[in-house]
Amino acid sequence: ASSHPQMEEVPLLMGSNCRAKGAAPGFKVAILGAAGGIGQPLALLMKMNPLVSVLHLYDVVNAPGVTADISHMNTGAVVRGFLGQPQLENALTGMDLVIIPAGVPRKPGMTRDDLFNINAGIVRTLCEGIAKCCPKAIVNVISNPVNSTVPIAAEVFKKAGTYDPKRLLGVTTLDVVRANTFVGEVLGLDPREVNVPVIGGHAGVTILPLLSQVNPACSFTSEEVNYLTSRIQNGGTEVVEAKAGAGSATLSMAYAAAKFADACLRGLRGDAGIVECSYVTELPFFASKVRLGRSGVEEILPLGPLNEFERAGLEKAKKELAQSIQKGVSFINK
Ligand code: NAD
Ligand code: LMR
Repeated sequence: ASSHPQMEEVPLLMGSNCRAKGAAPGFKVAILGAAGGIGQPLALLMKMNPLVSVLHLYDVVNAPGVTADISHMNTGAVVRGFLGQPQLENALTGMDLVIIPAGVPRKPGMTRDDLFNINAGIVRTLCEGIAKCCPKAIVNVISNPVNSTVPIAAEVFKKAGTYDPKRLLGVTTLDVVRANTFVGEVLGLDPREVNVPVIGGHAGVTILPLLSQVNPACSFTSEEVNYLTSRIQNGGTEVVEAKAGAGSATLSMAYAAAKFADACLRGLRGDAGIVECSYVTELPFFASKVRLGRSGVEEILPLGPLNEFERAGLEKAKKELAQSIQKGVSFINK
């Protein structure tokens, strides 16, 4: 972890522990959009993570309440809240990891791309803050459409001269979490023991589960492949429809984001063999298996052998991804 400032150096806003002598060793993590449907349970899970010494909760609404609540948990992380744009810089200064679940969610009938107009601007503003205040932080982008918001983040960082592709990661862990669950159901296995690589992107046909590479090794009928591929690709819509206008996945997403953030922190700590799927800079953006380490993404692992079904899926995914990437890039450079 980077060296930690004394408590006095960081403005004590809400929910901070005035008598704390200083933060325990560990990493400093900020959640931007911390009062939202994902942000709140994610804040709870990150407060429980022993690798986190300082947790900054930023939102444009309700940050004080969420911070007061979370700060009463008797776990190690010191929690501080930050409300509104004037406090963004204080929220970000000194952070090792910034997680971004800020932005509007889908309602039934919408695609993730329908969120672009609102969320693109939100992600741009937050990334401008990151470029200024914590340019070396690892950034985990959750806000949709991920296929475009990660390219937006990259363009903002390029403009600021701080772009490091190793440190910018789109969070696609929920696709893997879902794939493990659904495959576990079909195979009658404990989902914790299943690992399905999911590559491509995070929307519709760009979500490409590699069912030929499931661990433990197994085989599926073509009906099972069609069922699983479709259920994994439409998992988000399944939740949006079930919530019937009250938003999209929040709890499973917070679980997935906390799992991914933990992997990033273990990589930063120097643990060996941390491999996760993530939407990273390649081709120019693509979700792949990546090895995480002290500098973020240390290696993009090969896709491995794809079967014919997966090769056809990959072509479809690439076509849609190219458009979503271009849309994000143009948003910043127009
Ligand atoms: P939500 O509306 O419940 O919460 C979003 C939060 O962002 C709110 O608290 C809001 O005040 C805050 N916010 C808005 N503008 C902000 C700004 N400029 N700065 C800081 N905070 C701001 O939504 P949610 O259900 O938490 O979803 C958030 C985003 O995550 C959506 O875009 C959703 O589509 C996306 N999402 C992504 C995945 C994924 O797998 N990557 C999964 C689920 C949801
Ligand atoms: C998900 O996959 O659940 C998220 O991307 C939210 C959504 O809009 O589906």
